[in-house]
Amino acid sequence: MSLPTTVKLVDVGPRDGLQNEKGEVPAAVKIELVHRLQDAGLKEIEATSYVSPKWVPQMADAPAVMAGIERRAGVRYSVLTPNLKGLESAMALDKAFWPDEIVVFAAASERFSQRNINCSIDESIERFRPVVELARANGIYVRGAISCAVGCPYEGEVPPAAVDKVARLMKGIGVQHAGVADTIGVGTPAQVQRAMEATLKHYDLADVSGHYHDTYGQALANTLVSLEMGVWQYDASVAGLGGCPYAKGATGNVATEDLVYMLHGMGIETGIDLDKLIDAGQFISDFLGRPTNSRAGKALFTKRAA
Ligand code: HMG
Ligand code: MG
Repeated sequence: MSLPTTVKLVDVGPRDGLQNEKGEVPAAVKIELVHRLQDAGLKEIEATSYVSPKWVPQMADAPAVMAGIERRAGVRYSVLTPNLKGLESAMALDKAFWPDEIVVFAAASERFSQRNINCSIDESIERFRPVVELARANGIYVRGAISCAVGCPYEGEVPPAAVDKVARLMKGIGVQHAGVADTIGVGTPAQVQRAMEATLKHYDLADVSGHYHDTYGQALANTLVSLEMGVWQYDASVAGLGGCPYAKGATGNVATEDLVYMLHGMGIETGIDLDKLIDAGQFISDFLGRPTNSRAGKALFTKRAA
């Protein structure tokens, strides 16, 4: 299959990136990050999560973040909703602040499902069913994440059959898109390819994406193998921020800057201005008081200063 000529990137930095921060990140900083990402040309931004503040206190300011974003035409704003309460909270705001898209997140591993959302895989699907119905009845698009699609911090390697099952169940309740997630960034290209193939049994190519954490430095290679399969949608996190609080030791998603550098170098369009994206990465890294995790971001920033 020939490579896609255009790729859509979803920056998950404000959500996946900041959900694991130890220190407090004020809503104003999260909002500024979203503004900088949309200035850089991102067309979809995962802004926050409507999850239990007892489980993830870092996202407790979700309503303030959603109400504070100055929306830009053509940009989609997504949020995580693990249950009906999450979606109802998102919809309790004025409609102008509703998300365009929600993410329900299931896992391909039972133990991760228990740790992350406190229920079994089958229970999670039943929990998502009314969420999907309410969202779709209100014109909100529903994306699903398949966590631990190749490896689990508690169970080790995850077989493609487990991914196949979750993708089938999600499709069965009307989830419109499936994101194949390497939550802990352990997967290598052949494993990721098999997880993607299992998902593609149930979802069209236009309705799948890759969500690769970069713990073991495999995310660009995993993206390349997915591109070769024709997959053209990916999640990435500015400055490589992040990790999941229920996947200890896992680092952030592939840095958006690194992905953009690779894609543009391959002649694949993203619509993103890499310079402005590097500035957005620098802004949040400065706030957090540590260097960026983006290799390309660091190299280009240093070169700029020279
Ligand atoms: P639970 O404790 O079983 O829920 O948690 P519950 O229904 O028994 O409720 C317990 C309390 O939480 C109650 O409050 C509820 O009102 C409240 P109390 O009466 O005790 O004061 N509550 C909520 N509050 C706000 N928003 C809500 C909500 N729901 C309940 N939506 C639950 C179950 C799913 C809520 C919990 O486990 C949870 O919030 N988990 C989220 C964990 C999380 O956010 N993990 C990180 C995101 S996933 C991720 O990073 C992976 C991804 O990036 C892809 C990948 O890389 O794999 C997407
Ligand atoms: Mg993630």
